[in-house]
Amino acid sequence: MKNISSSFLKYILGASCFFISFGSVAQKTSKDSIDYKVNLLLQKMTLEEKVGQMNQYNGFWEVTGPAPKEGNAKLKYEHLKMGWVGSVLNVKGTENVRKLQEIVVKESRLGIPLLFGFDVIHGHKTLSPIPLGEAASWDLVAIEKSARVAAIEASAVGINWTFAPMVDISRDARWGRVMEGAGEDPYLGSKIGVARVKGFQGDDLSANNTIAATAKHFAAYGFAESGKDYNTVDVGTSTLYNIIFPPFKAVVENDVKTVMNSFNVINGIPSTANKFLQRDILKGKWGFKGFVISDWGSGMEMVDHGFAKDLTEAAELSANAGSDMDMESYAYITHLKALVESGKVRMSVIDDAVKRILTVKFELGLFDDPYKYCDAKREKELIYHPDHQAAALDMAKKSIVLLKNSNDLLPLKKSQKKIAVIGALANDKNSPLGSWRIGSDDSSAVSFLEGFKKYTTNYKYAKGADLITEPATFINELKINETDISGFNEAIQLAKQSEVVIMVLGEHGFQSGEGRSRAKIDLPGVQQQLLEAIYKVNKNIVLVLMNGRPLAIPWADKNIPAILETWQLGSQTGNAIAQVLFGDYNPGGKLPMTFPKSVGQVPIYYNHYSTGRPGPKPEVFWSHYGDESTKPLYPFGYGLSYTKFEYSNLTITAAEQATIKVSVMVKNTGKIAGEEVTQLYIHDKVASVVRPIKELKGFKKFMLNPGESKVVEFVLTEAELGFYNNEGVFTVEAGDFDVMVGTNSEQGLSGKLSIK
Ligand code: BGC
Repeated sequence: MKNISSSFLKYILGASCFFISFGSVAQKTSKDSIDYKVNLLLQKMTLEEKVGQMNQYNGFWEVTGPAPKEGNAKLKYEHLKMGWVGSVLNVKGTENVRKLQEIVVKESRLGIPLLFGFDVIHGHKTLSPIPLGEAASWDLVAIEKSARVAAIEASAVGINWTFAPMVDISRDARWGRVMEGAGEDPYLGSKIGVARVKGFQGDDLSANNTIAATAKHFAAYGFAESGKDYNTVDVGTSTLYNIIFPPFKAVVENDVKTVMNSFNVINGIPSTANKFLQRDILKGKWGFKGFVISDWGSGMEMVDHGFAKDLTEAAELSANAGSDMDMESYAYITHLKALVESGKVRMSVIDDAVKRILTVKFELGLFDDPYKYCDAKREKELIYHPDHQAAALDMAKKSIVLLKNSNDLLPLKKSQKKIAVIGALANDKNSPLGSWRIGSDDSSAVSFLEGFKKYTTNYKYAKGADLITEPATFINELKINETDISGFNEAIQLAKQSEVVIMVLGEHGFQSGEGRSRAKIDLPGVQQQLLEAIYKVNKNIVLVLMNGRPLAIPWADKNIPAILETWQLGSQTGNAIAQVLFGDYNPGGKLPMTFPKSVGQVPIYYNHYSTGRPGPKPEVFWSHYGDESTKPLYPFGYGLSYTKFEYSNLTITAAEQATIKVSVMVKNTGKIAGEEVTQLYIHDKVASVVRPIKELKGFKKFMLNPGESKVVEFVLTEAELGFYNNEGVFTVEAGDFDVMVGTNSEQGLSGKLSIK
């Protein structure tokens, strides 16, 4: 605590020095520069107007959390006019946006335009797969494009700021928000986070089709204890620096404009009031120039956490800790002015926050044209544009992971006769859109059946059983069908008469996402029972899974010959799956998160430390379970193809100082072309802080024709070979490393390297 406060003091001193010397800086700065303009504007602002910039109100639409009943708790016309609002969220549509923007621009004293924030998570109207699904593509170009499309559609409806990407690493499949991230690995997560930021923000943030991105939730929200959303987080320094921070640091280095803090306490301090995170690390060590937005009401929730005694103290603690804009706590707009007047919050803290917010507004070009995102014609032209649908289809196909394919049951022949399709999800146009798609239209996905019937008429469909018993909404708890098996008989009869059965099973799209943790991560409801009942009469089953998190499906893995992981693939779901089932697209996705055998193994992840008793041993005294394997069902990085890849010739050579080249030969030994993701893992064998048994440090995705070979090369530098010690200092230590290059985190060729 002492350390934190003393470095905070340094920060504050630094900040005040800056403002004291501002006059001379301004003289040297060009009059066209954003800095100059921001400072000029700041000088004209009253304290009340400054606090107004730090305030964000919910506009319309359903809330994702409780809204306060007291204080200035409502977006009012007067507030906009008085300059009390810096941003609104959940307002969309060019007409609505223009209306609000006009009030502030024309009627407030300084006419500072609003930021319009929105959760554009995996598309706006046209939806890509859920982010966890996209991550399974390991295709950074496609992922960047997907975010680009999302930004084009969102900006066309007036939105200029998205609360994405979520770059929280998570190892807990019970946590519903794993659907929104890139999985369990910090290296892959960093690359994907950067691709998404680039996609949203583009090369020119002032263009009318690029929007500011948000890296969230800073920090450690994905480490909620027992996977229960909003729960306590206790993490050690090594995990914080080496697993949780890297994706945030990577996107900060790539100019992400905003960072959102998080609901959780981390080691006893709520993130929103966490000086260590926001002042020392983010704005201090990493030099983040953008601004921090709180999470929804995370300021006021500090009262429930037992950290702030009331909303006034919540405002004081958050502002001083570096949370620049208050989303839906109404703490700043209600109390910040008085806190400054009483000396509890310094004016330099306010000025720093406002400067950051105004800078983003200038960078977006809002001062040049506040209505640049309000072109109704553009809105009409771009929503659901065919190019966006094509990109969504491409992304959807790339996200599919083939988990099992015994006896090459897949792909199906287009001439295949007598196919049974079973499962409620096959006929669902809503669930495949996944969670977090608040801008989209309900039931706008191409369902499994709609895509399937474009390929064949030789099929019959039986639902078997409902997955849910009441229509699903974003807010309410889902009602899962746990009892009604009245449709089983029809499905069983159909399966009996069929040559092959496709069972479309899994989770509803609203079983993952915010507030959607699960304690059981198997097939929900009566679906496992249905699967086993069908298996009794026909073993020729292709299981098409739809889910927003890793599932524990050991029975299916043991018994079902072919399993296809399709997550929730968004608008183009049915078309993408059909192309894969019938072999028009060869699946090449790889799991971004470990699939457990049972929920009791969770958190299970590939990059764990060794214990002192790794085993296996004949007696019980080693690190294991008596009733379950220590192995996952499917490891991180795993995924099959309709073709086969063979690895040979692993070569490791020292190149320039502290640079090592690793190469491997990969050959397509099958009969059709396919894409492979070659993965490079290292293990630092002895270090001053123990290192994981394996760490991903490189991957390459490429296509090979049948019989074709390719030498795949990687370069390892200090950035890959080093780690953060427990003082948060990046170090590279001399010593020996194991290297593995292969097709997933468990299978590959092994070698060694040493650094002197
Ligand atoms: C979520 C954020 C989201 C915000 C605004 C919160 O409940 O945690 O990720 O951006 O709501 O909708």
